[in-house]
Amino acid sequence: MPFIHTPPSWQLPEKLITPELAFMNRRRFMKALIGAGAGAATVGLTACQPPEAVDPELEKTLGQPLSGIERNPNFLNAGRDLTKQTYASRYNNFYEYGGTKTIWPIAQNLPTDPWTVEVSGLVKNPQTYDLDDLTQRFPLEERIYRFRCVEAWAMVVPWIGFPMKRLMEAVEPTSQAKFVRFTSFYDAEVCPGPAWGFALNLPWPYVEGLTVEEMANDLAFFAVGIYGRTLPKQHGAPIRMVVPWKYGFKGAKSIVKIEFVAEQPATYWNTISPNEYAFEANVEPEVPHPRWSQSKERLLGEGTNPYAWETQPTVIYNGYGEYVASLYT
Ligand code: MTE
Repeated sequence: MPFIHTPPSWQLPEKLITPELAFMNRRRFMKALIGAGAGAATVGLTACQPPEAVDPELEKTLGQPLSGIERNPNFLNAGRDLTKQTYASRYNNFYEYGGTKTIWPIAQNLPTDPWTVEVSGLVKNPQTYDLDDLTQRFPLEERIYRFRCVEAWAMVVPWIGFPMKRLMEAVEPTSQAKFVRFTSFYDAEVCPGPAWGFALNLPWPYVEGLTVEEMANDLAFFAVGIYGRTLPKQHGAPIRMVVPWKYGFKGAKSIVKIEFVAEQPATYWNTISPNEYAFEANVEPEVPHPRWSQSKERLLGEGTNPYAWETQPTVIYNGYGEYVASLYT
């Protein structure tokens, strides 16, 4: 069903939008990488602001520059300033690599080449894609989305990727498919997990799920890049989910398998603590987590302390109600 939407109230006025860059199809993804690798003076796709200088250790972890990818004008600033990459790429949740926010160095052990994503289950056209297949088949675009973690920290980041519904169209789910199960990479040899993981017998691999209607929503996105480059490992290279109206734990990283299924799948956090991490997990300021309020959030980098108190009001569906509220009536 086609989705018609009116621009949300927080969208930038047309006249403020940076002129769009040339449209880039999948075949140009590798070319963009090669060109950028050769130091070509290409226009950065995330040209909202000049590339940010980050400290040399962080710089080593960042992906390959991409260029020439169109910025989707429907998703431009989410009403807030972009979070600096210095904060976003050094403050992560990736429990395969530990239970702290500073996993960015150890996450570099994630092996990403070669990489395949198996798409199977209740579909007419099962596929196993390698990364080139994915990036050549589905046109890439840039979208600036708000991101809200269930822990009450938030950020605004420019993702590069493609809408999940494009992949659905390619594999054609059958009418029996009601849910989608997304599985992250896991290998105990390179994923030490958090030190306290033994006590909980954590249910690896990390699995998340959506309804097929949620996956078909315009906002649901697979990211292969961020801040104008391919995804760094700490953000879930080489491909992750981004579901901006839900808490961040719904966005599984480093996806290796996507299965269309009839029943609601068991998911990682919901299995660990069902009354704290619901399957649906939409951002809802009025519904507190059992251990803290969700009415406010703090933006990464606010002030000088990323652990500062929450000061910003949380918005229902993280500000994306115009896109998704109808899914839940
Ligand atoms: N995916 C995997 N595989 N493992 C994880 O631990 N953490 C989730 C989500 N995806 C997680 C994951 C949580 S709790 C959040 S808030 C986001 O990733 C954090 O994404 P970021 O580190 O890119 O900001």
